[in-house]
Amino acid sequence: MVKICGIGAGYVGGPTMAVIALKCPSIEVAVVDISQSRISAWNSNKLPIYEPGLEEVVNQCRGKNLLFSTDVEKHVHEADIILVSVNTPTKIRGLGAGKAADLTYWESAARMIADVSKSNKIVIEKSTVPVRTAEAIEKILTHNSKGIKYQILSNPEFLSEGTAIQDLLNPDRVLIGGNQDTEGLEAIQKLKAIYAHWVPEDRIITTNLWSAELSKLADNAFLAQRISSINAMSALCEATGAEVSQVSHALSKNTKIGPKFLNASVGFGGSCFQKDILNLVYICESNGLIEVANYWKQVIKVNDYQKSRFVNRVVTSMFNTVSGKKIAILGFAFKKDTSDTRKTPAIDVCKGLLGDNACLSIYDPRVTEEQIQKDLSMDGVEWDHPIHLKPMSSTVVKQVSVVGDAYEATKEAHGICILTEWDEFKTIDYQKVYDHMQKPAFVFDGRNILNVDKMREIGFIVYSIGRPLDQWPKNSKLDSSYDI
Ligand code: NAI
Repeated sequence: MVKICGIGAGYVGGPTMAVIALKCPSIEVAVVDISQSRISAWNSNKLPIYEPGLEEVVNQCRGKNLLFSTDVEKHVHEADIILVSVNTPTKIRGLGAGKAADLTYWESAARMIADVSKSNKIVIEKSTVPVRTAEAIEKILTHNSKGIKYQILSNPEFLSEGTAIQDLLNPDRVLIGGNQDTEGLEAIQKLKAIYAHWVPEDRIITTNLWSAELSKLADNAFLAQRISSINAMSALCEATGAEVSQVSHALSKNTKIGPKFLNASVGFGGSCFQKDILNLVYICESNGLIEVANYWKQVIKVNDYQKSRFVNRVVTSMFNTVSGKKIAILGFAFKKDTSDTRKTPAIDVCKGLLGDNACLSIYDPRVTEEQIQKDLSMDGVEWDHPIHLKPMSSTVVKQVSVVGDAYEATKEAHGICILTEWDEFKTIDYQKVYDHMQKPAFVFDGRNILNVDKMREIGFIVYSIGRPLDQWPKNSKLDSSYDI
């Protein structure tokens, strides 16, 4: 029986390894992590992350050919193939701080593999890494190899949170990069054979190592760029009376453009887009490609601008101050159907409103109070280091309360900000909500999910990104002091 070990039991490692176990009953899959709490949660009825369909997959395989453990060394030692899905956050300090990828977690995983291995292994980069990382990993492994042979492959993960299980079961492509010599090609074939259990062969792309590594960074940069492009258009729509959803629709019918990633919003979030673009920018700068670096930097700048613009609209519409006013925040996760809050635009919007002394009442169907308090009290730069390994901060942001439903959040509120597109926010009884709010009652739709005409009929003053403005926000002069 082939044995695979997945290092890192997070949003990528957990679901990916569970789907491999489901589709390959003849393979023994061990998922290991240094975090005891994460592994305990994977072994319990309350998994550490929320993903539609994940629980069913884990329940089918756990205890058969899928196990979760903190005994990292034992399972690495026994495995033939090791998939590494550890964090690769942005460096906080030192050379390249604020841009370059921090490979500390990767390097320590590689050194541990070298320490405990007694047989040849295929080591696979699942984490998103800078191009040519495999070279560094190979050096660490071979300089400590004791005669053991390693093949490094790059197999970047393209799943999206919220649809991870569907994406893994039915991927549009699987990308495998490896050395182009005989051993490298053999290793590629071994990994390809695992995916071939459920992925049609024509969807499995093989390349050299550097193309695979760079393709993942390019993929995220292109997706984020589309969001920033439509968000940039949304600002112009508000200024001109055009409607961004109509512009998106017209664009989507161009077969050269297509319909996906064209929804204007308060901005993109998630653990990957910003960090991967920053990493790309750093690599461009390191290679002297300053114009290329500046091009990609702009994608992040527009995203920050979109969040500041939103905060600005809220404050200026509400008589230029939200001090002491109750603002309901509906949605905190960075998108619907996930509990992940890493880099969610809600953090910046909430911090912007708190900066103006607002009182926030937050409701998200999947995010815990503990997580929200942690996100709002934490220093921005620490966000993607494995904070679950550190003790919980005892700081509580006093002007923030986290409540159990949308009606409680909006009761007596002066305004509502919709920051995540959860389906349940489309079916709220907004008449009831309006009746229990302070007047004038404002709603700021950061995800364009509301029927604006109906909301206006009820009596709300509505701001919806990229849509023609109510007279009210139109007359409120935007101020540039809310830069995020
Ligand atoms: P995560 O933070 O959810 O999981 C990483 C896990 O690795 C943590 O549980 C941490 O405790 C563990 N870890 C760190 N160092 C370790 C070590 N030396 N030994 C054992 N365990 C260790 O991160 P996530 O979201 O799963 O991302 C992992 C990688 O995958 C990153 O490079 C990310 O850019 C990439 N990626 C993430 C996607 C996403 O949607 N979250 C999608 C595609 C790629």
